[in-house]
Amino acid sequence: MIILAIESSCDETACAVVEMDADKRRILSNTVATQIATHALYGGVVPEIASRAHIEAISPVVRESVAEAGIAMSDIDAVAVTYSPGLIGSLLVGVSFAKSLAYTLGVPLIPVDHIKAHTAAAYFVDETLEAPFLSLVVSGGHTSIYDVREPNCYEEIGSTRDDAAGEAFDKVGRVMGLTYPGGAAMDKLAARGFEKMAAGEMEKIVFPSPAINDDSLDYSFSGLKTACINYLHTYRQKNNIEDKGEIPEDEKMRIAASFTETVVRGICQKLEKALIETGTKTLVMAGGVAANSHLRRGVAETCEKQGVKLCIPPISLCGDNGAMVGAQAYYEALSGVFADERLNAYASGEAAEAAAELMKFRK
Ligand code: KG4
Ligand code: ZN
Repeated sequence: MIILAIESSCDETACAVVEMDADKRRILSNTVATQIATHALYGGVVPEIASRAHIEAISPVVRESVAEAGIAMSDIDAVAVTYSPGLIGSLLVGVSFAKSLAYTLGVPLIPVDHIKAHTAAAYFVDETLEAPFLSLVVSGGHTSIYDVREPNCYEEIGSTRDDAAGEAFDKVGRVMGLTYPGGAAMDKLAARGFEKMAAGEMEKIVFPSPAINDDSLDYSFSGLKTACINYLHTYRQKNNIEDKGEIPEDEKMRIAASFTETVVRGICQKLEKALIETGTKTLVMAGGVAANSHLRRGVAETCEKQGVKLCIPPISLCGDNGAMVGAQAYYEALSGVFADERLNAYASGEAAEAAAELMKFRK
């Protein structure tokens, strides 16, 4: 089955062509037009600007993806699109384009949830991966653990009660003076900080854990984020550095390493509890923050300790992309999930579920 998949939920306009069958999972093309440079000017995603950038990029991105895949439009068996969750104006561009394309080609339209799509990127890594498994989704908007019983049946068993991990990385990075999004730069700074700590040249700063101190599998990143930002403000005050003034490189490394260590330890603490409680044998980790080298190592160690097989997409498939949408779309199609011409976009997953019930495209 050849699926053309579109993703436009946030600040990347993406399209992929994938070939999915019972014994085949292939990415024929995966084109991403990022808007990061534009939003970096504002220190975060500006929804209005994102929507306008999507409308400019969508046709060329789809055209490029089809050309790179080396297929004819008539080879496309279905069009898939992310319809939730995300920025409404951004989602609408992709949904609207996908609808028109499916209509013109006379092929089915498959609605895909962005979070499930992140997880589905793992199908390309391990050809034998099949539900049931657990999925840890760590992104700019989510930090959740899902019990994936079937490819399109996700039960959230733990989640953040406030900010997502990616949001915390980006906010701390911003106050530190890093360009948006700060996650990748924090990753590199932390690596240098850990080296110095291992050599005894630097001491860790103690920050509050994001693992909520109760029986749940939930997280809270707002306390850690605030503590880290307060530390930065106090550091500037004490050292007579003006509000947005440059922090010395060594101190940035120390903060990034301490923050990252707290995030990784906290995420792994609840993750380990989830692995033990569910007795799962396979874990998928996905989403933009799954690109973090320290988190990848920490989660790998946790899985090894629990005898759990770990499947993490390569960094190129961790951030938003069309291939992950195509992979999830295949499983949606297998269970008969197709959208009709009324398909809309929804900012939250809950609203999308409710609408799906109403429109009966979920069986
Ligand atoms: O999944 P994604 O591309 O978009 C959402 O669906 O939210 O995730 C974006 C997030 C941003 O917060 C970004 O800073 C973070 O992923 N990120 C990282 C790294 N690379 C990207 N966070 C930590 N370490 C990284 N290496
Ligand atoms: Zn995402």
